[in-house]
Amino acid sequence: MARLIGGLGTSHVPSIGMAMDRGLTEAPDWKPLFDGYMPAQRWVREQRPDVAVVVFNDHGNSFFLDKVPTFAVGCAATYAPIDEGFGKPALPDFDGHQDLSWHLVDTMIEQRFDPMICQEIEVDHGIQVPMRLFFGEPGARWPVRVVPIFVNCIQYPIPLPARCYELGRVLRQAIESFPSDERVVVLGTGGLSHQLQGSRAGFVNPQADRAFLEDIAQRPDELAGWSRERYVETFGSEGAELIMWLVMRGALDERVITRYSHYFVPASMTGAGMIVLENAS
Ligand code: DHB
Ligand code: FE
Repeated sequence: MARLIGGLGTSHVPSIGMAMDRGLTEAPDWKPLFDGYMPAQRWVREQRPDVAVVVFNDHGNSFFLDKVPTFAVGCAATYAPIDEGFGKPALPDFDGHQDLSWHLVDTMIEQRFDPMICQEIEVDHGIQVPMRLFFGEPGARWPVRVVPIFVNCIQYPIPLPARCYELGRVLRQAIESFPSDERVVVLGTGGLSHQLQGSRAGFVNPQADRAFLEDIAQRPDELAGWSRERYVETFGSEGAELIMWLVMRGALDERVITRYSHYFVPASMTGAGMIVLENAS
């Protein structure tokens, strides 16, 4: 059966992708952020995952407000990086893993999650930036196949944190019942604190972000029990993207080891965090 080798979490701020595009990773403003990802990239190289299940939110690029699924699963052979208005990204398409995607959809439905099924979809910075941060610049091909899982963080009502955590358990069940010897890593993306709109635009909460990086490893049940309103109050309206880290965390054991974590604020308008988790057992 496929093997779940760990969970990764990271912010997906578009300007991080822009800094990579412009070769600014060594520039003084950016270097402290990118240096934080080096141990994580080493971990990924050593662990040699075959597949990344990437939990992310689309930002009005593939789904607009007229049609927003609460949960959706990509079941395509490839996923093109979408043009968000700055031109076609200079990145290769992501190779999908259709058999695993369909197995995931089957398992979700059996476990009473009923996702939208996407056989053709492009993917935005929500997946592009985390993939570059953990897997490095891809050259002609990404080193892993991907299964994208979309979570609505845009159009209220968004799903409950507890529901996202439960979805993680189902993901694990699907991965561990998939007949192959592939090594699978689950990525949770988005956050940490940021608010891009309204009267609190520019809000960040570094103290809460640092606590989150600790608690997502040690006290995920508590974070899963928070209300959505508490996420918005604590982390900002877009900081509520952190519910997607709960999907990743739900896929892991109750006890995990934090291999690496890193925090840098501000990256654009956001507290940028990263974590690498392994099951303790
Ligand atoms: C920013 C952060 C995000 O999560 C996002 O989706 C878009 C922009 C930012 O801080 O600029
Ligand atoms: Fe976002």
